[in-house]
Amino acid sequence: MEPQETPPTGTFDVIVIGSGAAGLTAALALAGRLKVAVLAKGGLAGGSTAWAQGGIAAVLDEGDTFEDHVRDTMVAGAGLNRRETVEFVIARAPGAIGRLIDLGVPFNMDGNTLHLTREGGHSHRRIVHVDDATGQAVQQALLRAAEANPNITLLSGRSCIDFITGRHELRYCPSGRVWGVYALNEQSGDVETFTARATVLATGGAGRVYQFSTAPRGATGDGISMAWRAGARVSNMEMMQFHPTCLYNLDVKNFLITEAVRGEGGRLKHPVTGHRFMPDYDARAELAPRDVVARAIDDQIKRYGLDYVHLDISHQPAAFVKEHFPNIHEKLLTLGIDMTREPIPVVPAQHYTCGGVLIDLDGRTDLPGLYAAGECTESGLHGANRLASNSLLECFVFGDAAAAHILANWNGFEAPPPVMPWDESRVTDSDEEVVIKQNWTEIRRFMWNYVGIVRTTKRLERAMHRIQLLNTEVEEYYHHFRVSTDLIELRNLLQSAELIVRSALRRHESRGLHYTLDYPGTDAGAVDTVLVP
Ligand code: FAD
Ligand code: SIN
Repeated sequence: MEPQETPPTGTFDVIVIGSGAAGLTAALALAGRLKVAVLAKGGLAGGSTAWAQGGIAAVLDEGDTFEDHVRDTMVAGAGLNRRETVEFVIARAPGAIGRLIDLGVPFNMDGNTLHLTREGGHSHRRIVHVDDATGQAVQQALLRAAEANPNITLLSGRSCIDFITGRHELRYCPSGRVWGVYALNEQSGDVETFTARATVLATGGAGRVYQFSTAPRGATGDGISMAWRAGARVSNMEMMQFHPTCLYNLDVKNFLITEAVRGEGGRLKHPVTGHRFMPDYDARAELAPRDVVARAIDDQIKRYGLDYVHLDISHQPAAFVKEHFPNIHEKLLTLGIDMTREPIPVVPAQHYTCGGVLIDLDGRTDLPGLYAAGECTESGLHGANRLASNSLLECFVFGDAAAAHILANWNGFEAPPPVMPWDESRVTDSDEEVVIKQNWTEIRRFMWNYVGIVRTTKRLERAMHRIQLLNTEVEEYYHHFRVSTDLIELRNLLQSAELIVRSALRRHESRGLHYTLDYPGTDAGAVDTVLVP
């Protein structure tokens, strides 16, 4: 029987997957000329963007230079960064901040100039911010602009499953050309077909692969896994960033205490002796890059059998602390901690995915028609460890770069061909939802225990063994039961875990965020870990 074509649920000029900083930046830049659909899993403000605290790095201070920002980025990145990308992004930072001001982001001011705070690894004050809740203000401003733009259709509650490629054309074609995406409508339960001439992937990171993470619930590596399955290379997935200071609280699991607290004088102390331990590890003390600080805390916790260490800024005047960190101060008060008078218990937690889908300076992936931007990518900016507050910046620069390349080459983009509808003929409703929850918990636990801050080959192999066992189970489940967001995420979580462990097993040195007791030295040359599907 000839397969029947179902009319596409939506055909647009461009589909953007993700409504965070990267996705909305791309959408707004494209919408001057093109019709754009933005698809988002859950709510439109559900990604990491709205959770960002510290701010956005840019050279704006007198005496600061692009060269210094480039150098700080590459020192933090342990030389694995691609210099061309670092220069490309940093030169565009002041322009990106200017566009955000035009969109109405109310950055803190110092008289007539932007107030700049400081974070670890930065040799200058360089971080523009909106109090200690920068991401919320940025997300709101971008959403406001997108909602007001008649060329942008915002579609929340769409869990994208897989790209539509040549293999899904009505006349089968083995090409990896991306024509759009199949997405689960979270409300109706139907799988919808979205086609377009170009697709921009902006789905954020894979932090939820770990038991303890500062990232929101939906950071399950969906985009990275979708791109990998469709044939795109991914790079440096072993470089998982752990933020040194996540609040230690048995009820509130993932509340970040911004690095700016250390930037404004906060000290890390042993919780019993009160000893300030960072100077014992690094001359830059609390302002060393994140990998160094996270490893030092991990060492203290393991060495002294602690549950947490203390972050103490109570020596600063109370008014100063309240003015700089109003939201954190308020939140901690609700938990019975007054940071103006007492230290905050903190532990490291997964925070940022440095690796991802390989892109070039135009945001192009390996797959024709597919662009990517933001945390789901490996652009060459972060190398082996992201410098604080360089991430939102990357979203703005590459969201814009991808849009610029699409616009400049628009006449060369063909209209999508007729494609197959999503095939649900061989699946039934799941009768064992508990399997999903159980597997999800298992992955996150062994990734934390075996693929965390300090690694060994044996532990990585143990993790890989478990991934292989789960792969069979999850694939079988996926092919027999109707998809749900939980199942889509579980499949992607497992795929992301596999990419992380495979990459970690490939790197026979310690560099930046990848620290292994079996290879403690750093090689003379820095080489990316590139996985080819
Ligand atoms: P996100 O903002 O994460 O957005 C991802 C989007 O993709 C969401 O809309 C989501 O719904 C959608 N999506 C995901 N999967 C699917 C799917 N299958 N189908 C459809 N849609 C999907 N960086 C800084 O530079 N400065 C900071 O101060 C800072 N603070 C941070 C604080 C916290 C607590 C955290 C977690 C991160 C922080 N970061 C910071 C990092 C930064 O916030 C993120 O890297 C950045 O916001 C990522 O933006 P993005 O657009 O790539 O993805
Ligand atoms: C923070 O505020 O500490 C987070 C900054 C970042 O992740 O870049």
